[in-house]
Amino acid sequence: MKEFNVAVVGATGAVGQVFLQILEQRAFPLKNLILLASERSEGKVIKFKSENIQVKKLTRNSFKDVDIAFFSAGASRSKEYAKYAVESGALVIDNSSAFRMDDDVPLVVPEVNSSKAMKHNGIIANPNCSTIIMAVAIKPIYDISPIKKIVVSTYQAVSGAGYRAIVELENQVKDIICLKKREVKNEVFPVQIAFNVIPHIDVFLDNGYTKEEMKMHNETRKIFDDYKIKVTATTVRVPVFTSHSEAITLETKDKIKIEDAKFALKKAKGLKFLDDIDKNGNFKYPTPIIASGKDDVYVGRLREDISNENGLCMWVVGDQLRKGAALNAVQIAELFFSGRI
Ligand code: A2P
Repeated sequence: MKEFNVAVVGATGAVGQVFLQILEQRAFPLKNLILLASERSEGKVIKFKSENIQVKKLTRNSFKDVDIAFFSAGASRSKEYAKYAVESGALVIDNSSAFRMDDDVPLVVPEVNSSKAMKHNGIIANPNCSTIIMAVAIKPIYDISPIKKIVVSTYQAVSGAGYRAIVELENQVKDIICLKKREVKNEVFPVQIAFNVIPHIDVFLDNGYTKEEMKMHNETRKIFDDYKIKVTATTVRVPVFTSHSEAITLETKDKIKIEDAKFALKKAKGLKFLDDIDKNGNFKYPTPIIASGKDDVYVGRLREDISNENGLCMWVVGDQLRKGAALNAVQIAELFFSGRI
């Protein structure tokens, strides 16, 4: 099998670290692995399999002989450096929002629209984490009857905001519990995240939604190539380390029987349907703890919407560092080496 030279841009970050785990776990056909980050991390050693690899500073010359470059170092780094990777002949799979809505850049969730990845100009975009998780969960329903409208509230883990956000939650919890502090420091989040929930992810826009909420609207339409779908999202940060949860209510064109929805969700690729009562009468449903470290998106609490003839409600949880970011990107790369792009 052909082996690839792979670069991970943002290798020291929360998503970057998961990229390395996934490349290792999936036995990705690697020839050479180049780890790139900022000047701050230059020379730092990261263990990959049995090898110690030194992190290099990202520059415009970082991509010589690179076949695949995974970018996960923020939109401004992607905007500045992705073109150099493309010029060197690499396929860029970009986890940032830099190019997602560009007409010539496919926005790909392999379970939904893998064929879109075939037509690219060197860059393929990985969608927003909450959007990927939602897209995987609603695809089997969409295949029964087109979805007209989605109302979604998210419960998003702090690691989605990067490594410093994880440390901020840890420090706030320690300060409050161990040091009995009443006031804690917040630098990453707009207000205290420990023992709190914050209905504010990314910047506010003129229409009153946040940018994260509008990403769910715009990206879902592009992924499904259906610009009639309406999505209204409220995105909320919660004091959970990993895995985003989403309460999704959707309206389909035709009424879907609950048994048909259940059947479709149970057999869908990339999904685990967890909606059960065990022999002791305990309810089973997905939680962030169950989903963390797992590849599948979990769906539970499936029910008919009592407020809408054609409505379904479900509770969806997925590890946003894996399926919501690194895993989705690696799956796109796997399409590439399996010759399907
Ligand atoms: P570094 O660790 O050197 O700052 P997270 O999302 O967890 O905050 O991670 C962001 C990733 O993006 C890190 O790997 C970080 O590297 C990287 N990064 C941030 N700024 C730059 C930059 N100017 N050039 C290259 N990588 C950067």
